[in-house]
Amino acid sequence: MKLALASDHAGYDLKKAVVDYLKSVGVDFIDFGCGPGENVDYVDYGAEAIRRVVCKECDRAILFCGTGLGMAVVANKFPGIIATPCWDEFTATVSRTHNNSNCLTLGGRVLTPEQAIAIVKIWLEKEFEGGRHERRVKKIAQLEEGNFKKV
Ligand code: RB5
Repeated sequence: MKLALASDHAGYDLKKAVVDYLKSVGVDFIDFGCGPGENVDYVDYGAEAIRRVVCKECDRAILFCGTGLGMAVVANKFPGIIATPCWDEFTATVSRTHNNSNCLTLGGRVLTPEQAIAIVKIWLEKEFEGGRHERRVKKIAQLEEGNFKKV
């Protein structure tokens, strides 16, 4: 598992805490910025990281901004990406088991490092359940292909 990471300035400190956690458990990642002390647009950094998931250079992404919302909006513009803002252990669990999330987005202004690390741990461990959720995720993919017919 190789992760693509990115943050804006508002997510930078939380990213740093998660980076330390990922290093401590040996999870491979590439950090696409931003760096400390920068003031950037989350769109640019989120897009740079999520492109690497689309082209399969990375398996999944974790993106950080102030709320986790802007990064989710950006990532969900890309084909094949299911980006889910998560704010507790329950949303982290169902983002994987039901939604098959391949991009976790976290908010540096709404989560403590401890909360974020607990979410990341679950998001990395949980598997997609398939079954009825597979049917639903496939319907999302059809929408992405421009098929807006009622199914
Ligand atoms: C940056 O100030 C802030 O607007 C951004 O990090 C984020 O919260 C967007 O969703």
